[in-house]
Amino acid sequence: MPPGSRVRHAGRLGAIGIGIGIVIGSGLLVGSPAAARDRDWVGVEKCRTCHEKQLMGDQVAAWRSGPHRHAYATLKSPASLAIAAEQGLDRPPAESDACLGCHLSAHGVPPVRVAHPLGREDGVQCETCHGPGRDYRKKKIMSDRKLATRKGLRDADDEALCIGCHNASSPTFDPNRYQLPDGSRAGFDFATAKERIAHPIPADVKGRFVELEDAQEAAEEAAEADR
Ligand code: HEC
Ligand code: HEC
Ligand code: HEC
Ligand code: HEC
Repeated sequence: MPPGSRVRHAGRLGAIGIGIGIVIGSGLLVGSPAAARDRDWVGVEKCRTCHEKQLMGDQVAAWRSGPHRHAYATLKSPASLAIAAEQGLDRPPAESDACLGCHLSAHGVPPVRVAHPLGREDGVQCETCHGPGRDYRKKKIMSDRKLATRKGLRDADDEALCIGCHNASSPTFDPNRYQLPDGSRAGFDFATAKERIAHPIPADVKGRFVELEDAQEAAEEAAEADR
């Protein structure tokens, strides 16, 4: 199971238990905590509305050209088929639990929680690292980090998140893949790896996106009116 779901939701088992209690007690599903989480994985198409904008720094473009977008497609490559044969998998890697947990978003998450279609070809998408987005993706919430965190935004600046997949259970894990600053080698180095997938909000925009976008729109409207 991807770490995003394991780490984030372990603490909610209690809530599910209470939810079931309510269902059994009243015969009602509506309003139970379980029902409240329906479709909380929304997919990258929803993030695009804002995070594909130039002013924002176009995180979607960075992700598209990075490794995670292609993680699912990789499972159909000759290299993957060779690994599957070597491991004696009973189904193709693109359908196997032995591979999908690290190469696809929301694998193993109950279907009721996932918007359809989430987009398999999107591989490891935003929400695997940033948390299921249904409740935080509104502009007003997103621009208030504390509130967004309460609504499910996860702190991605967390080595444990990466190591949930970047570990020796990966058939291609290479203990010498990364060179550390002191010259020694390691299978994963958080600082270097983070740099390789960097997709920052421009420093002069960070914390000011809504304000700057409003100003941009006002300027465009004024220009329109002058014509
Ligand atoms: C859900 C599993 C998963 C998580 C979590 C994850 N990755 Fe990955 N990552 C992958 C997979 C799978 C690939 C290989 C994709 C491919 O080549 O098809 C990959 C590839 C990479 C690569 C390119 C290969 C390499 O090691 O140089 C980098 C860099 C990387 N990830 C960085 C990160 C960082 C940084 C984090 C944490 C912030 C992270 N990843 C979290 C699954 C994950
Ligand atoms: C524990 C998580 C994990 C599992 C399980 C996993 N992978 Fe991966 N996979 C990764 C990560 C992370 C990478 C990036 C390189 C690395 O560190 O291994 C990767 C990279 C790859 C690559 C290399 C991509 C490239 O172009 O360099 C292939 C091929 C691959 N995986 C196939 C598979 C297959 C097939 C399975 C199932 C038998 C599988 N993986 C299971 C995490 C995983
Ligand atoms: C493999 C994990 C991973 C994936 C996938 C991923 N991110 Fe990130 N993201 C990170 C990390 C790590 C950071 C840097 C740490 C931080 O600022 O929280 C980050 C930072 C960000 C930031 C804040 C940048 C800043 O300057 O403060 C935004 C916005 C963002 N990501 C959006 C996205 C969107 C949108 C997607 C999907 C298109 C996405 N991310 C996919 C791990 C990921
Ligand atoms: C309606 C617009 C909108 C949508 C949709 C949206 N975001 Fe955001 N997001 C924002 C704004 C605005 C900010 C704050 C930008 C700033 O720094 O001023 C932000 C900030 C972020 C940050 C940085 C948080 C921080 O302070 O470190 C991350 C990560 C992020 N978004 C991820 C996502 C993901 C993942 C999705 C899709 C599930 C998504 N966003 C959908 C508007 C949006």
